[in-house]
Amino acid sequence: MYKNYLPEKYEIIITEDQIKKRVKELGEQISKDYRDKHILIITVLKGAVVFLSDLLRNIKCPVDIDFIKATSYGSATESGALKILYPPNEEIYQKDVLIVEDIIDSGYTLLKIRHFIECMQPSSLKVCTFIDKKERRKIDIKIDYVGIEVEGGFLIGYGLDSKNRFRNLPFIARIIE
Ligand code: IMP
Ligand code: MG
Repeated sequence: MYKNYLPEKYEIIITEDQIKKRVKELGEQISKDYRDKHILIITVLKGAVVFLSDLLRNIKCPVDIDFIKATSYGSATESGALKILYPPNEEIYQKDVLIVEDIIDSGYTLLKIRHFIECMQPSSLKVCTFIDKKERRKIDIKIDYVGIEVEGGFLIGYGLDSKNRFRNLPFIARIIE
């Protein structure tokens, strides 16, 4: 079915069923923690939209959604090289904001986005990522909800891309070099 589309060598590390189960658990935890609140979810474009759409349907409290996009220039991966390309439209001041990410690696992207949102004084600010490459973190940054911790390698699928491909795969795979 995915002929001429998947990379030559890859291994599926998280199946569609495992994703479904874990997203449901995350949604239940978030619903519990935010039970008398109205969450403003700020989703990091583009990859996290796939996770967002599943997570949303597992959250049982009032939710609004918005988006943010950070970009890096070339292959620079230091926080200072990152820019906010699309800021959120919604008012953030005094809202209960939850940042939703697909994957956190060095942590620089999240740091930049966090600072940007913090400046707008939300009443609370938490972070949820589906994949956490914790061992590769370059900075100390708190993540409140983690779907699955993964050691390393380059991952594709479920929103994650390699050169803008593979986001539509329903599973997560590691590319084998
Ligand atoms: P960080 O700034 O190093 O934490 O990485 C941030 C961004 O790099 C993520 O939001 C992803 O867009 C991308 N990224 C990191 N690891 C992977 C991966 O394994 N597959 C696809 N994208 C990745
Ligand atoms: Mg991302």
